Amino acid sequence: MTERRAWGLRARLTVSMGVILAIAFAITFIATYEGTGSQVRRQIDHDLRQDTSDLLRSGLAGEEDNPADVARAARAYVTGLPSFGGSARLVLMRFSNGQVITNEPDLLGLGPDRNEPREAPDMKAAERQQGNTLLAAAPGLHNYRLRDVGGVRVQVTPVSRRGHILATAVIGEPLSAVERAQDGVATTFLLVGSLTLLVAIGAAYLLAARTAAPLRRMARTAAQVDAGDLAPRIASRGPRDEIRVLADAFDHMLDRLADAFSRQQAFVADASHELRTPLTVIRGQLEVLAAQRDVSRADVDRVEGMVRTEILRMQRLIDELLLLTRADHQELLRTQQLDLEVYLDSLYESLTMLGDRVFKLAPVPRGTLRADPDRLAQVLRNLVLNAVEHTAAGGRVEVAARAARGELEFTVDDDGPGIAAEQRDRIFDRFARTDSARARPAGGTGLGLAIARAIVQAHGGTIQAEASPLGGARIRLTLPGYERSVRQSVSAGDPAPASSGL
Ligand SMILES: Nc1ncnc2c1ncn2[C@@H]1O[C@H](COP(=O)(O)OP(=O)(O)OP(=O)(O)O)[C@@H](O)[C@H]1O
Ligand SMILES: [Mg+2]
Repeated sequence: MTERRAWGLRARLTVSMGVILAIAFAITFIATYEGTGSQVRRQIDHDLRQDTSDLLRSGLAGEEDNPADVARAARAYVTGLPSFGGSARLVLMRFSNGQVITNEPDLLGLGPDRNEPREAPDMKAAERQQGNTLLAAAPGLHNYRLRDVGGVRVQVTPVSRRGHILATAVIGEPLSAVERAQDGVATTFLLVGSLTLLVAIGAAYLLAARTAAPLRRMARTAAQVDAGDLAPRIASRGPRDEIRVLADAFDHMLDRLADAFSRQQAFVADASHELRTPLTVIRGQLEVLAAQRDVSRADVDRVEGMVRTEILRMQRLIDELLLLTRADHQELLRTQQLDLEVYLDSLYESLTMLGDRVFKLAPVPRGTLRADPDRLAQVLRNLVLNAVEHTAAGGRVEVAARAARGELEFTVDDDGPGIAAEQRDRIFDRFARTDSARARPAGGTGLGLAIARAIVQAHGGTIQAEASPLGGARIRLTLPGYERSVRQSVSAGDPAPASSGL
């Protein structure tokens, strides 16, 4: 089906180019055909004028104003000319006394009958009629159609002496030269044009095939991907044109899709695994209880306590997974304008409850932040909890906030083992834990930083892991929506920038 569509594109491009070329050829042909015709016609007109002036200047030169003298001179000139058939020039003169002189008497029905003994009388009359029509024409250039000759162009000129018209001179030339020239153009165009058109259509087909080939490859790859195989790539190697850009973008999209797909699979596997662990514990405990004959109150209480702990663990896990799902749909936040001093003072206090560590909480910048107070507290609590979990009792944990250009930046530092550089991106993935964390029996689920990142990103901010100056890990997050509180600065009589005090 895709093959047929790709062939369709190839055929459409070829046919379109063929039609465009054929139209271009037709226009060129018509222009050349007509141009050649009018050029030859102009040449004929020029020749006719030249012949007329030759007749008037050479044939009728002299001072004779007596029509008989002029007629004599004209006869001498005209009879010296070859016939119309031989010279392709028709010369015809009629004098005011009715005398007619021509180099082609037969054509105009003026010749003696012995020349054409078998010619019917009505033919002769028609020929004479032709001659009369020519002689009766107004001065100037005209086209006529003559029997046995075809189209003829004639120049009609009056011959006058001292203001008196003595005669009418008609000089004609057949128009067959025009037809011959135009026939030549048509033949050349037919031969060369059709050959060129064929070659051009062939080239257009090859070009169309070359253009369509990567598209066909793309369609094939898309069909394979559609069938569930994310491995194929187009891997276009042509010049960096639009098609190559499209193919590269397509490959890049597939890379991302495959990556997202494998992450999704890992996520589902991890989630199932995390939910199965407490279920296994619960089942084991209940089986032990059921196997006992005399169950004491203490046994029931112990099992009930363990089952409750595992159920709470599962509940927390499910809550966190739901929260992450909602973060994908951006329905996570209920933001409000937070007064940083009020908000962070009470938050800092609760953070120090998270463990027996040496906490250092930097002074709070003045101003407001547009954020969800509960979600932001959740992020900072997760980060401080991680710092506590990765430091020994008495270790150092530092939280600082800095304001700059509409943004508020938090850093959480500790003096624990830190996070290896190659792990720093990965730890924000769902269920991601470093091997050492995984090895710890009391380790978390690996959702804390994924949740922190989802919340920060829902705020339009960024979060990253770095090395801390304290020797351990530093998590830095930046949130937009910070405003320096002018009202507070003014009322305090202190115009210092909001980032002061850090
Ligand atoms: N301050 C830190 N120092 C060293 N490693 C850290 C620190 N914070 C996080 N990590 C590493 O990043 C991993 C992911 O952290 P995250 O908070 O997402 O999961 P968790 O703490 O293991 O579990 P949870 O937070 O869901 O209970 C941790 O398992 C740990 O390996
Ligand atoms: Mg954690």
